[in-house]
Amino acid sequence: MNAQTPLHSSDAATAEEAIARQEALPPLTNEEATDVAMQNTLLTPRFYTTDFDEMDAIDVSPVREDWDALIAQMKADPNKGHFKKNEDWDEVDWDGMEPKLKAEFIDFLISSCTAEFSGCVLYKEMKRRGSNEDITTLFQLMARDEARHAGFINDALREAGIAVNLGFLTQAKKYTYFRPKFIYYATYLSEKIGYARYITIYRHLEKHPEKRFHPIFKWFREWCNDEFSHGEAFALLMRTDPALTESRVNKMWIKFFLTAVFSTMWVRDHQRPAFHDALGVDPEWYGQEVFRKTSDISCQVFPMMLDIDHPRWLPTLRRIERANVAIAAGRKAGGISGWLTRMGGTVRAGANFVALLTIPSIPNATPVDVRMEPAY
Ligand SMILES: [Fe+2]
Ligand SMILES: [Fe+2]
Repeated sequence: MNAQTPLHSSDAATAEEAIARQEALPPLTNEEATDVAMQNTLLTPRFYTTDFDEMDAIDVSPVREDWDALIAQMKADPNKGHFKKNEDWDEVDWDGMEPKLKAEFIDFLISSCTAEFSGCVLYKEMKRRGSNEDITTLFQLMARDEARHAGFINDALREAGIAVNLGFLTQAKKYTYFRPKFIYYATYLSEKIGYARYITIYRHLEKHPEKRFHPIFKWFREWCNDEFSHGEAFALLMRTDPALTESRVNKMWIKFFLTAVFSTMWVRDHQRPAFHDALGVDPEWYGQEVFRKTSDISCQVFPMMLDIDHPRWLPTLRRIERANVAIAAGRKAGGISGWLTRMGGTVRAGANFVALLTIPSIPNATPVDVRMEPAY
């Protein structure tokens, strides 16, 4: 490191260092991005907190061999220095970008940055509060990765004159409490679905490089491998206690989380038609493709998968999406009629979500060997 190469979040060894390096960049006055990141709705990324003492008490001995191998792989840090602009970073013509695409893409980047950073604050806090060395080591490594990811997205946003104020978010954003087991289900799934999303876009753009309208997509392969490892860690954590995935009640929770995560992604993605159009991706195809990969992977630890080919699956998702359009329209219209539209949409979205839950799931016998490699 010398005077010509300023310290960058991509080389940081810890989350704290990565955040500090982002904060040290020239300040931007754009408050809008941070405002968007501050939003807490069913569809925006949230920040979580949990019972850290309970998580600190986890004993990883039942999965020791796999655990040590995974930690060694993460410590080796193959992606150190990767998440920064280099000669592969093409110039972005923000001013020439079609306004609708630009708005949707910026929204995508802000929401991705918030989601990455949401993982970072949760993992960092677990590391800070814990005393169990296995657990704190893992969480510090994952926090490091997420801080680099968030920092890199912020670098991309800065070119458009925007940045999410990460330090401010940590202080000011509302935290939602989840019991540790819900953290496992939700975080495991968000890591694996994150992998599936990034790799599906990456593979698509490999075949259609002319559709790559922004250089950040070139970074998606190494990126998704980080998310894959994080998901592996949660799979191992769940394997330490068979009741987490085998008890009748927990099976119901797992189905609930699978359904919630899949349907949220579906609705969120359908809010960005210009973005998907620019990539040359049909959002329905993309959604199902990502669900399929995530389902296949989650069979490593979940006792069932959702039947995404069931005749009621797609029509019900489409109804939820239409209800969401009504909710947004009602909110925009305001007044009593707007309120009624919004309430009508909320009831329909809720009823259709319950309808998704009534689709029988497909039972799965989990393999003895839990570990997987990213294969897509
Ligand atoms: Fe990440
Ligand atoms: Fe991750």
